[in-house]
Amino acid sequence: MAIRPLIAGNWKMNGLGADGLALAQVIAERLRGGGAGLAELLLCPPATLVRAVAETVSGSDVLVGGQDCHAKSSGAHTGDVSAEMLADAGARYVIVGHSERRADHGEKDATVRAKAEAAHRAGLIAIICIGETEAERDRGATLDVVGRQLAGSLPDQAKAANTVVAYEPVWAIGTGRTPTTAEVAEVHKFLRERLTARYEDGGRFRLLYGGSVKPENARELLAVADVNGALVGGASLKADSFWAIATACA
Ligand code: 13P
Repeated sequence: MAIRPLIAGNWKMNGLGADGLALAQVIAERLRGGGAGLAELLLCPPATLVRAVAETVSGSDVLVGGQDCHAKSSGAHTGDVSAEMLADAGARYVIVGHSERRADHGEKDATVRAKAEAAHRAGLIAIICIGETEAERDRGATLDVVGRQLAGSLPDQAKAANTVVAYEPVWAIGTGRTPTTAEVAEVHKFLRERLTARYEDGGRFRLLYGGSVKPENARELLAVADVNGALVGGASLKADSFWAIATACA
């Protein structure tokens, strides 16, 4: 059976109430009207909007996720949000280990793995992000880097049903530059091989590509073997561009 694609919008630190809810509303209405083919649609607003977005899209098939969670369920961690809190607010997914968190907050693979375990404990699906920097690609270390990140960031207990891997080359994020389809294919094939070697159901994990996905390049990126969807940043902030990407995998 084919893997159902996932098109996820990562709003990052964007979205105040009115605009965010209006965007979620339009996406939910379009999905209710049909047309996104077989793709599952996910919106990851900032934590302040998770509950309101979940309420806004309820009754549609649009799903909601967080952008990060703490490894603990609760406690003295000022400013943090737990996976249980996200689930309680209506999230079904949470992104962990995004390169912006790895860079801004010094998150290492072990932290990311602990967060993914927390997500699983709370019944959430973890979207675990990995990807090389430009310097790493230039020195031919891409597969070494993503292989190490994959090994270190995924829990041993991960399953296709609770874990999605997002390959996001750091140099492609927010730059308008993307790897060639051959480069994406090489990395995704490698990740698939690693997943299959480590997990019984490794052939069924969804592998997303992320980094400057736009309506103009979505169709060719989503057609690459072992690309099972996209993690979209900037283009997810406008209903028309997110919808164009969502319908590009049909
Ligand atoms: P852009 O689509 O803006 O390049 O961001 C990608 C990303 O980081 C999604 O998580």
